[in-house]
Amino acid sequence: MKIIESIEKLRAEIRNWRENRQTVAFVPTMGNLHDGHLQLVERAKTVADRVVVSIFVNPLQFGVNEDFNQYPRTLQQDAEKLEVLQTDLLFYPQVAELYPRGMTDLTKVIVPNSLKETLCGRSRPGHFDGVVTVVNLLFQLVQPDKALFGLKDFQQFLVIQRMVADLHIPVEIIGVPTVRETDGLAMSSRNQYLNPEERQRASLLFQTLQTIQQQLLQGKTDTIALCAQAIVQLQQHDFKVDYVAIRRQQDLATCTSTDKSLIILVAARLGTTRLIDNLLCQL
Ligand code: PAJ
Repeated sequence: MKIIESIEKLRAEIRNWRENRQTVAFVPTMGNLHDGHLQLVERAKTVADRVVVSIFVNPLQFGVNEDFNQYPRTLQQDAEKLEVLQTDLLFYPQVAELYPRGMTDLTKVIVPNSLKETLCGRSRPGHFDGVVTVVNLLFQLVQPDKALFGLKDFQQFLVIQRMVADLHIPVEIIGVPTVRETDGLAMSSRNQYLNPEERQRASLLFQTLQTIQQQLLQGKTDTIALCAQAIVQLQQHDFKVDYVAIRRQQDLATCTSTDKSLIILVAARLGTTRLIDNLLCQL
């Protein structure tokens, strides 16, 4: 596996593949790779001739009081995991490589309000603009045929799909189901911030989603009451709940009685760690 830090070398490598008519699948990450990320890479290998993974902790998508500095950076272990999967190329740019003119006066991509003024976008202003700005930049550099994203970050997945549609970027976005620990907790680089006691309690998030899913499948229709009940249950276990919501899968709009493809989403803090999860529900 080649580890490349410069845009120029990345472009040369990809040009070379393109001249040989090889297709490229791309998996953007912020590193500290776990089995969720690796599942994306495994899937990528089945959909194209070459696989590029990027590791870049993107300062643009972190709020001022968020964990940019603390975010785990584990290049050596990450590279070893990618090597085992026979990844072709790891793109590992420094901040100055991607943003040579800094970040305060930068050309950015702006997510439409309907998608960013709700759920995580509401509590993390600027976050999704930061995500699509870097993903667009990475797409320009890698020019992949396909790009893979986890459905664990469902709002991010929709925001990226929408960017690709609105900007007419010729890349197919593939969503990969959430990979979980044995107790149901969605794998996340942020899980390691949890102390052992918090880690045990964290599985309640997924249990809460499952309970709501069962209630919906049993025909309960009062979505506001279902979410309110779930919030109380999480609060009783000392979660600071940001939201529990039942929405339409296609666009995260409030659902009506005719909607059949739903998604249940949760975001909550355990101590200082913010966790998110979701569960699809087909009625
Ligand atoms: P990061 O959190 O490192 O996640 C990289 C990719 O892995 C994302 O598509 C995410 O949805 C996916 N992923 C994370 N945990 C997963 C799990 N348990 N199961 C399945 N997929 C999972 O998301 C980002 O980085 C950044 O915002 C990025 C898109 C790279 C832009 O900076």
